[in-house]
Amino acid sequence: MANQTAIESSPAVGRAIRQFADLPGPRGLPIVGNILQMHQGRAHQDVEAWAQRYGPYFKFRLGSRHFLGVTDHENLITVLRDRPEGFRRTVRLEQVIREMGMEPGVFAANGDAWRRQRRLVMSAFDPTHVRAYFPTLLTVTRRLHRRWQAAAAADDSIDLRADLMRYTVDGVAGLAFGSEINTLEGGSEVIQNHLDQILPAIFRRVLAPLPYWRYLKSHADRHLPESVAAINVAVQGFIAAARKRMKGNPELIDRPSNLLEAMIAAAERESGAVSDAEIAGNVFTMLLAGEDTTANTLAWLIWLLFKNPPALEQCRDEVRRTFAELSSMTPESIASLDYLEACANEAMRLKPVAPTILNEALRDTTIGDVRIKAGTIVWLVLRHDTLDERFFPNPNAFEPRRWLAAGVHGSDSAKRIAMPFGGGPRICPGRYLALLEIKMAMAMLLGQFDLKSVATSDERDPAEYLALTMAPVGLRMRVRERQQEQRSN
Ligand code: HEM
Repeated sequence: MANQTAIESSPAVGRAIRQFADLPGPRGLPIVGNILQMHQGRAHQDVEAWAQRYGPYFKFRLGSRHFLGVTDHENLITVLRDRPEGFRRTVRLEQVIREMGMEPGVFAANGDAWRRQRRLVMSAFDPTHVRAYFPTLLTVTRRLHRRWQAAAAADDSIDLRADLMRYTVDGVAGLAFGSEINTLEGGSEVIQNHLDQILPAIFRRVLAPLPYWRYLKSHADRHLPESVAAINVAVQGFIAAARKRMKGNPELIDRPSNLLEAMIAAAERESGAVSDAEIAGNVFTMLLAGEDTTANTLAWLIWLLFKNPPALEQCRDEVRRTFAELSSMTPESIASLDYLEACANEAMRLKPVAPTILNEALRDTTIGDVRIKAGTIVWLVLRHDTLDERFFPNPNAFEPRRWLAAGVHGSDSAKRIAMPFGGGPRICPGRYLALLEIKMAMAMLLGQFDLKSVATSDERDPAEYLALTMAPVGLRMRVRERQQEQRSN
């Protein structure tokens, strides 16, 4: 029974096993498979629709790569836990990143390389480090406040995603690299603009049935090397600054104060602990993983609250009861904002910015009652059980209270079913930072401003656009600043 996997000893045992080839799924075309049935930016919705039609396990194909769609939360978590031995991130992801001229960091790495990098990342992002970072994050939050004060004074409409991306890039650069970048107040938007080119390109190429970009370059493909070069310059800049700091203060080798210093120190202490290329890969990864995810979650949350006035009012009251001024924000007062946290959880249930996680099987195995071969890619559909009446009564409604309740449909069961940060050994290491950034930005917004509007130009619900993460398209916000006397009442 050497081949017996953890998954085979799951609840599937005792049931008849189906072969992958016998599964239902959309009929594809020769060579390209089902790619033409997936819409640009909406692949997640196409797969969610297949799940509705074909059930909890279905198959599809992109070129020569076979995909298994899986929706039920118990098997989702079983797959997520069976890493790195049973499943890896896709081979294609690693290839695409290297071919673009970058190095894979912890997100794209696998096996031993992943294990080594993950250890360093985890210690840098643990709750204690994130908490110690609070004062810097408060400085970044104040900058966002000033930016929105200026917009309020001019009655300008705010490009929500763009501003929030400035906030999250500035936030992650301080914590992960110890570098103060101030894109919120500076004119330079270099990093965000270039990341905005790179992320969709990675996603397009990961899904492409064939490596078309090697032969046929679109406008975006032709300009990609410029963006990659610019990001690589920024990455090398962060690394050079950290090395200089460490040279000036050798204590940092024993007691690194951030992820980048920890990686440099590990490389110096122990040969093979982490290579220079891996250090660069992780700087790039933190920019990539820490920017869009949190910014898009915040944008969805602000929109959902604006659409749900009772929840908005309750959230605003909680914030205003807790502190009148930004200067009175502390880690403790932020941690006490339970209703705001419930709103964030509810926004991530309805609008998970990572609505799918792809995992490639490293060996022949069984998922649920389906036998798959090594190399099959499992497309985990994260937004399926989270919209199922059996687990979340009134599932399409924005009801933050469900995250505070006890009982069958209470928060414990909700947390088991909704996995916006993934799960198992590769669960998002940035989740504490993300939640802190979300709560601080929201506390600033709701405490200091009234929302006049949060809408798209045609007043319709924003479209979901998936390019590695799922963004709301075209959301703009208008705010009115609260006066000093209102704040102290
Ligand atoms: C609301 C914000 C965020 C969401 C929803 C989110 C979601 C996710 C998800 C779904 C994964 C895949 C987990 C898995 O495979 O099981 C992931 C991985 C990851 N995230 Fe996040 N993330 C967020 C913010 C951040 C931030 C702020 C950082 C830090 C810079 C970060 C860094 C990472 C890294 C490095 C990985 C790869 C972990 C590994 O493969 O071992 N994320 N995230």
